[in-house]
Amino acid sequence: MARERNLTWHPTALEPAVRRNANGQRPLTLWFTGLSGSGKSTLAFELERLLIGQGVGCCVLDGDNIRHGLCSDLGFDARSRAENIRRVAEVARLMNEAGLVVMAAFISPYQRDRETARRIIGAERFHEIHVSAPLHVCEERDPKGLYRKARAGVLSGFTGVDDPYESPLQPELALNTAEVALEDCLEQLLARVRGAGAS
Ligand code: ADX
Repeated sequence: MARERNLTWHPTALEPAVRRNANGQRPLTLWFTGLSGSGKSTLAFELERLLIGQGVGCCVLDGDNIRHGLCSDLGFDARSRAENIRRVAEVARLMNEAGLVVMAAFISPYQRDRETARRIIGAERFHEIHVSAPLHVCEERDPKGLYRKARAGVLSGFTGVDDPYESPLQPELALNTAEVALEDCLEQLLARVRGAGAS
């Protein structure tokens, strides 16, 4: 075997075509971007549940948990958000290379940072999903009570209140969660994962 493959002590990376997981799936990253309360994490975790049910190896990276560990040293000024997205993109790339489908759910408010993520992960694997809902709907949902704090002036630099959100110009998929039911959003996401050969 060693002779057939001409093994040497020099490391050789696998060709991308060989890098599929045990089920022959093509790894990809679904990058969910949108306001806090738009439904990014709900969609990411529900999709994960469905994919795991189908035997697809996958993983959710989510702002709320990543910011307690890998990015616990970062705040919410533009520079920190850029670094947050860069680190997450590097992790997503490694997970893709290990064969996993990645759902990354981050506000990622700046176009430029999302472009960086696309470049790090690779354009052919990166699918930008714009999860949108009108600001007043996100504020009504306010799952963590943060909009209330931002409006009260207790929290500053909150996206959508006193910090910008740059909507994607050409996302691979746009889901308006104020108008489209959760089940229908998931159907569209599953179709995209299937279409990309990841399930
Ligand atoms: S990002 O802008 O760098 O992409 P990320 O998605 O990781 O943000 O984290 C967003 C989460 O952090 C929000 O869902 C919210 O719970 C919390 N958060 C705390 N402060 C802020 C803030 N100033 N702006 C936005 N989110 C905040």
